[in-house]
Amino acid sequence: MDLVRDLELALEGPLDLVTTSALLDLVSPEWLDRLVVEAAARRLPVYAALSYDGRVMAEPACCHDREIMAGFNLHQRTDKGFGPALGPTAAARAVSRFKYLGYQVVQGGSDWVLGPDDRAIQEELLTAWAELAALTTALSSDVIAQWLAQRRAHLAGGRSTLRVGHTDLFASPIGTR
Ligand SMILES: C[S@@+](CC[C@H](N)C(=O)[O-])C[C@H]1O[C@@H](n2cnc3c(N)ncnc32)[C@H](O)[C@@H]1O
Repeated sequence: MDLVRDLELALEGPLDLVTTSALLDLVSPEWLDRLVVEAAARRLPVYAALSYDGRVMAEPACCHDREIMAGFNLHQRTDKGFGPALGPTAAARAVSRFKYLGYQVVQGGSDWVLGPDDRAIQEELLTAWAELAALTTALSSDVIAQWLAQRRAHLAGGRSTLRVGHTDLFASPIGTR
C-alpha cells in the first residue's frame, strides 16, 4: 500500500493500534500532520518506534566526522516520496502535534548502539555515509576516501563503536474510545 496515497485506507477497519517503525523521519510535516489528524479522528493510539534524532557518535573520533555526519543529516531532510522529509525533527513534531490534539505521549531513547562485533552493519553505515558525503558536503573525494579508510581500519582493529540516536514514542488519546 502506498501510504502517501492511501493513508486513510490503511486506517480503515477495526483497528486497536497504529504502529510505525523507522518511518516518521522519512515523512513530510504535512503527511505527519495528516497521520496525527486521522488517528485522532479515530481515537487510535499510535506507537512510533525508531525515529532518527540527528545524533551520531563514532568512536574513536576521526578527522572530518563532523562534516560527514552533517552531510548525513542534510540528506535526512530530502524527499523520500512524502515531500521534503522531517528527518531528525520528526519525533519532536509528532509529540507536539499529538499533545495538541489531546493525546498523552510517552517518549524515550532507543539508540542503536553498535559495538566492535557489529561489523556488518557498521560497514554498511560507514559506506553509506561516505557515499552521501560526496553529495552533501564540500569534502573532496580523496578526503572522503581517507575518512572511510580510517574508519574501516578502526573497524578491522575491533575498536569502532557507533551510537545512532533514535526516539520511540507512544501516543494515546486521553479518555476512552
Ligand atoms: C527505514 S524502512 C523501515 C522498515 C521497517 N519498518 C523497519 O523498522 O525495519 C522504511 C520503510 O518505509 C516504507 N515506505 C517508504 N515509503 C512508503 C510509502 N509511500 N508507502 C508505504 N511504505 C513506504 C519502505 O518500504 C520501508 O520499508
